[in-house]
Amino acid sequence: MNILLFASAYNGMCQRVHRELEAENHRVSIELSASEEVMQEAVAQFQPDLIICPFLKHRVPEAIWREHLCLIVHPGIEGDRGPSSLDWAIDMERNQWGVTLLQADEEMDAGDIWATQNFPLRGAPKASLYRREVIATAVAEIKNILLDAIQKPDFRPRPLDYSNPNVKGKCLPLMRQDWRKIDWLNDNTETIVKKIHAADSFPGVLDDIAGNTVYLFGARAEYRKTNAKPGELIGYRDGAVCRATRDGAVWIRQMKMAQHGEKTFFKLPALQVVTQQFHNPEYFEHLGVLDSQVQQDINTEIKNGVAYLSFDFYNGAMNTEQCIALLAKLRELRAHADVRVIALLGGEDFWSNGIHLNCIESSVDPAHESWRNINAIDDVVQEIINMDNKITVAALRNNAGAGGAMMPLACDSVWAREGVVLNPHYQTMGLYGSEYWTYLLPKRVGQHLAHELTTQCMPILAKAAKAIGMVDQVLPEDWELYHQTLQKACEELTKDELFFSTLEQKQQRRVADECVQPLETYRAAELRQMKAIFDNPDSDYHKLRYNFVHKISCGKTPSRLINHTTKEKVLQIA
Ligand code: COA
Repeated sequence: MNILLFASAYNGMCQRVHRELEAENHRVSIELSASEEVMQEAVAQFQPDLIICPFLKHRVPEAIWREHLCLIVHPGIEGDRGPSSLDWAIDMERNQWGVTLLQADEEMDAGDIWATQNFPLRGAPKASLYRREVIATAVAEIKNILLDAIQKPDFRPRPLDYSNPNVKGKCLPLMRQDWRKIDWLNDNTETIVKKIHAADSFPGVLDDIAGNTVYLFGARAEYRKTNAKPGELIGYRDGAVCRATRDGAVWIRQMKMAQHGEKTFFKLPALQVVTQQFHNPEYFEHLGVLDSQVQQDINTEIKNGVAYLSFDFYNGAMNTEQCIALLAKLRELRAHADVRVIALLGGEDFWSNGIHLNCIESSVDPAHESWRNINAIDDVVQEIINMDNKITVAALRNNAGAGGAMMPLACDSVWAREGVVLNPHYQTMGLYGSEYWTYLLPKRVGQHLAHELTTQCMPILAKAAKAIGMVDQVLPEDWELYHQTLQKACEELTKDELFFSTLEQKQQRRVADECVQPLETYRAAELRQMKAIFDNPDSDYHKLRYNFVHKISCGKTPSRLINHTTKEKVLQIA
């Protein structure tokens, strides 16, 4: 089938739908423009059999949906309508939520229903629910209707019918800041966390801290009693700040200053915002590090000879200090006598997205900070490559991009959760890349594919990554099942016969590789290229990073995603 995707951004959902459809042999093209004219042109050129809108904030022009079957992915249960679906679901403490595939119609989200499926709603941030449950459910529905409903000439989608008692959704308005507002004197910790979860990623909860207007993101409940006034800052840890509540405390991981005149801000670790952007940082000088079981970006659990190392950095971005802390943890595990296998779990939402572009952008000398950050992440990768007394497993539970997609390749085995999307390339950020990718990637996929992956800049699904040797195993997508399978497989590796033979092979391979080309020469060559990019104030990297961090879109669909003009080009050539 020719399937055209309309989307407002090539986000994680769109990337996955795109690659899943191609894997099923459909011909897919993507249009990200909101211009009716451009959308109509795409339809005219591509002649789609079906249009899918995996993540669309604007309307599909009537002239298109009247002529073509056009399905919208709506992140809500049957009957739910409006732009703040997940926000309301979290706010109302629903225990089930869902994804509905609707036919585009005159009224937004009110078209006929092609599929709807529910899932249990975790007590998690909105973006986490979207990345895990919503994307997986949407993909399953799309695949199902392509296999079933669309093939049947007599299939009729059902109209939205609020008189049906099974239809539990409603049409709800945009959730505004006055609704999201935290009442520090009356709201308890649970309510505050819920409010921040419902606004996670975007727009955040607007709040005031000692006269500074900020948006709050990334909440974690801290169950400690304090005598401080609700809302007051009581300490920090791992870049997050802790605030007293009326019945405990809450960690805030990220903040964004509200726009001030012409000046716009972006998300940063909360402590950095307090110390560098607040107009009265001296007010907080007395604060110290708070011990916490809850706020720990880096966590290790050791069980049956396996260390499960999670590094849950917000948005998968790893700044210099986080890389240094991760390196220290890896060195500690290297010396741990009871550990035979280290499973690197990444975070709850991303495995890793490489160096921290927001922290770099906010530094007084971004070129220098880029250099520090890339060296710090390289040190982590080097430590993994040289871990000669343990077996390392990259447990790719979630998506990874750029250097964060190269880092897992340093492990002895790479076991991805089905549906994970990798973006093993740097050029979209104007970078040559480091993280020893020139050693790690060709070693697994060969020079030719390494070149293709890093220059074509396309996402790749776990299954496709396995087919080319970038991933060793694809484990079930279900979160619990993935972890059970992972644990069993890791424990298997701790058994004497397997452990010692694997270690021996690994050591021999490393020695052989070192004879061909010393490891450090790969890094040196990569870093030479990177330094030239960092030190050139006119390099694309500085502009692209600025745009990425400030969320400035170029307004055009990247040509690598457009398939609808190919036909025309081929005809012209012929
Ligand atoms: N540094 C800082 N923030 C990052 C980041 C990074 N390296 N990578 C992702 N993020 C943030 C995004 O800004 C976004 O923030 P938000 O919560 O304000 O929306 C969030 O993480 C999710 O990223 P998003 O781009 O929406 O996810 P996606 O699934 O659509 O795309 C990537 C994933 C990896 C393709 C994309 O995030 C990306 O290109 N990241 C930059 C990777 C990079 O160039 N790293 C540096 C070189 S090592």
